[in-house]
Amino acid sequence: QESVPQLWGIPLKYISLVTLAVQNASLTIIMHYSRVSTSPSRSYSAASAVLLNELLKGFISLAIAFYRIDDHGPHHSPQRGQALHWLQPHAFVFRCRRLGREIFSPDCWKLSIPATLYVIQNNLQFVAASNLEAATFQVSYQMKILTTAAFSVALLRRRLNATKWAALTALALGVGIVQIQSGSGNGHANGHVHQMNPVKGLVAVVAACFTSGLAGVYFEMVLKGSQADLWVRNVQLSLFSLLPALLPIMASSSRQNGLSLSSAFANFGGWAWATVLTQVFGGLVTALVIKYSDNILKAFATSISIVLSFIASVILFNFQVTTSFLVGASTVLAATWLYNQPDDKLPSQLPKLVAG
Ligand code: C5P
Repeated sequence: QESVPQLWGIPLKYISLVTLAVQNASLTIIMHYSRVSTSPSRSYSAASAVLLNELLKGFISLAIAFYRIDDHGPHHSPQRGQALHWLQPHAFVFRCRRLGREIFSPDCWKLSIPATLYVIQNNLQFVAASNLEAATFQVSYQMKILTTAAFSVALLRRRLNATKWAALTALALGVGIVQIQSGSGNGHANGHVHQMNPVKGLVAVVAACFTSGLAGVYFEMVLKGSQADLWVRNVQLSLFSLLPALLPIMASSSRQNGLSLSSAFANFGGWAWATVLTQVFGGLVTALVIKYSDNILKAFATSISIVLSFIASVILFNFQVTTSFLVGASTVLAATWLYNQPDDKLPSQLPKLVAG
């Protein structure tokens, strides 16, 4: 069992969970603003943002995996111990070869499933963020706790007691109550009025909850079912994301005048970049959370971010607070608290399931 690393004496597990909550709230706000602050005809391509996200995450994970290669596996690169030894030709080639072998390992295909699901989910998030108020999107997206729990029970054989199931039911209720208030609305930002379609937004968010639960649990299953390094798994995830992320870009460019970098990245301004960078950061933190905690804890930690998004939405987007929003959001928070009440810990049978 790998020891849990610490940063300034605090377990990385807690740092990553809190970081993820703040990242989630920021992403909702930044993504929503980036979509509603211009008219749809001048909006950037969500598919290109998803592709860029995967490319950046892939490169960062590759760099970390390359740097860390001596920390896992039985073989160490030559001249280990000398300063910057990995820059020396022998050690560099050795590392490249070893990393290549790890990335293209016989079981790398397993990552194709979460990779495809995450690409679909990341595209759906843009649809939801464009058609729902930021706070409504944030609360509705908490339904992923339900899907994550269901997939954890089904795939990882996790067992949940009656209190936890009650908390999950309360959560679904809370999300439903929040939905009551979201009639058709307009996003006002930067002087533009962006017409939103809440039904389209809700369908997108429900679908994203399913892919989130399944992809997260599947990634956890693959990650914890083998000794492979987290960053190597992340590189594999990004590699398998490239094709599904490229498909919608190629489809839309074939409808226009062919594939060109300038059309794929048209209207890609500061807010689009901020959205992509926040997503990249979130993806890397999510991977750490899944490694050092688990998906159910991750889903509950992010529900804290609804309070942050809510306050920011009121200030930034003139979000109208209604009684149903307050009742729904409080129910979600109470459910989060209830779910996290300690119970007699039931062991997970995870590793046995995925071995081989
Ligand atoms: O909403 P949810 O928490 O499921 O979103 C997870 C996000 O983290 C997705 O955008 C996914 O692409 C990203 N991710 C990642 N690397 C992982 C696991 C998830 O980039 N290993």
